[in-house]
Amino acid sequence: MKCEVLSNVFLKERRLLLDLAVPAGFAAASPGQFLHIRIEDSCDPLLRRPLSIHDYCASGKKNGVVVRVLYEVVGKGTALLSEKKPYSEIDCLGPLGSGFDMEKIAGYKNVYIIAGGMGVAPLFFLVRKIMECKVKSVKCKVAVLLGVKTKNDILREKEFKDLGCQVHIATEDGSKGFKGRVTELLKEKLQPRSIICACGPKPMLAAVSEIARSNNVPAQVSLEEFMGCGLGACLGCVIRTTSGYKRICHDGPVFDSSEIIWKD
Ligand SMILES: Cc1cc2nc3c(=O)[nH]c(=O)nc-3n(C[C@H](O)[C@H](O)[C@H](O)COP(=O)(O)OP(=O)(O)OC[C@H]3O[C@@H](n4cnc5c(N)ncnc54)[C@H](O)[C@@H]3O)c2cc1C
Ligand code: FES
Repeated sequence: MKCEVLSNVFLKERRLLLDLAVPAGFAAASPGQFLHIRIEDSCDPLLRRPLSIHDYCASGKKNGVVVRVLYEVVGKGTALLSEKKPYSEIDCLGPLGSGFDMEKIAGYKNVYIIAGGMGVAPLFFLVRKIMECKVKSVKCKVAVLLGVKTKNDILREKEFKDLGCQVHIATEDGSKGFKGRVTELLKEKLQPRSIICACGPKPMLAAVSEIARSNNVPAQVSLEEFMGCGLGACLGCVIRTTSGYKRICHDGPVFDSSEIIWKD
């Protein structure tokens, strides 16, 4: 589907926020799902690039919907994406994948959101949805733990605070907040009868999974892998689970952490 670029702005060095107007017929998105973006109409780059839905909201125009993407320029595809100007069009497949289990999350009093680096991207939409439910009925406490290398890498701190949740920062160099890894901070903060939702590099997610297991709390983790089709057909993104290989693009990207076999 062709989506129109509304804005594509740098928030920080190499990190941008892209707003896309999606056409009628684009299915409603849920937190944890992603877009599979064809960056150019040419064959280079050949493959689409998966980017999480950072937010999904009304545009202000009648029946208009905006899908927001938060991304980092790491290679050719994302560099080309960063050059897209308003009014240009991008071919997007989506929303794809299976996201966070909102019903399960709603059953917990304390929700811990753990973001490692750009792992923050899919978690904003999740937190916004949880906070909306909280206002309606569920009395849960949401703590967002943002883990970064240094304070200049922190993204969306104010926006999370504006949603009304607690925000804790962990920097590896100690330039702001807790000095150390976000998983160490999680160990300090974690309360019983909680649920954890996390996105970030695989070693961080493996550590989150171990913390969840040893504290007897559930965790939902959003995994990243190189992707081909993005639709479950090519088996290019499989991960080992307790019930065999699963496709991150189709069966995930969000999984219950206890399902994943973390050791290679
Ligand atoms: C489901 C899913 C959701 C994602 N959501 C986001 C998001 O919201 N924001 C964001 O910034 N990024 C996200 N990513 C990662 C993003 O897809 C890649 O960074 C992007 O495809 C890189 O494209 P490129 O052409 O710029 O880089 P390439 O030239 O393809 O690669 C440049 C470098 O990035 C590394 N890389 C590329 N793809 C991945 C990947 N999937 N996992 C780990 N390392 C990779 C390569 O090893 C290489 O070192 C997501 C990935 C997945 C699978
Ligand atoms: S990318 Fe093809 S099956 Fe997942």
